[in-house]
Amino acid sequence: MSKPDPQQRTTAPDGQPDSHQPAWRREFPLEVQQDNYVARRDFTKYLGLTSLAFVVGQGWIVAENSMRRSKGQPPIKPIVTLDQIPVGGALTFAYPDENDPCLLLRPDEHTLLAYGQKCTHLSCAVVPVMDKGQLHCPCHEGTFDAATGRALSGPPRRPLSRIILDLRDGIVYATGVELRSV
Ligand code: FES
Repeated sequence: MSKPDPQQRTTAPDGQPDSHQPAWRREFPLEVQQDNYVARRDFTKYLGLTSLAFVVGQGWIVAENSMRRSKGQPPIKPIVTLDQIPVGGALTFAYPDENDPCLLLRPDEHTLLAYGQKCTHLSCAVVPVMDKGQLHCPCHEGTFDAATGRALSGPPRRPLSRIILDLRDGIVYATGVELRSV
């Protein structure tokens, strides 16, 4: 018995050729072989579009960063995808340079916050205490409000530097640093 031709189609109920059929009939064929063909074609199409979107996105970041560099502004830097930071969780990253440790906090589903990790007293690294909504500096027991970055107790008087964030297509980007004196 000969193998069925994967391109073969049964005749449509109205007996008209493919070129006269509505688009939905071509997109949702009855034959398994043809359906597999459509699924592969769609998969390839979406793979191509996703890759293109990724390349365009990266190109856009490179172009924008070179413009920002020429103006003396900090770069745009992808930190993490949103699903990589759990609700109630925190993670460290470096921004704008590798020598600038920062903390990204996700206190609830819809809130993302980021601060420079250097304590404003003598630059020890602060650590998040998410259940208290605070950032703690173990060197001299300084504490900061995790919601605002402002000093709460201990030697620090100035707030932590705030990292400006942007969420685009499920990716969290750092886009700037706000240095604050009060
Ligand atoms: S360095 Fe943080 S409290 Fe002193």
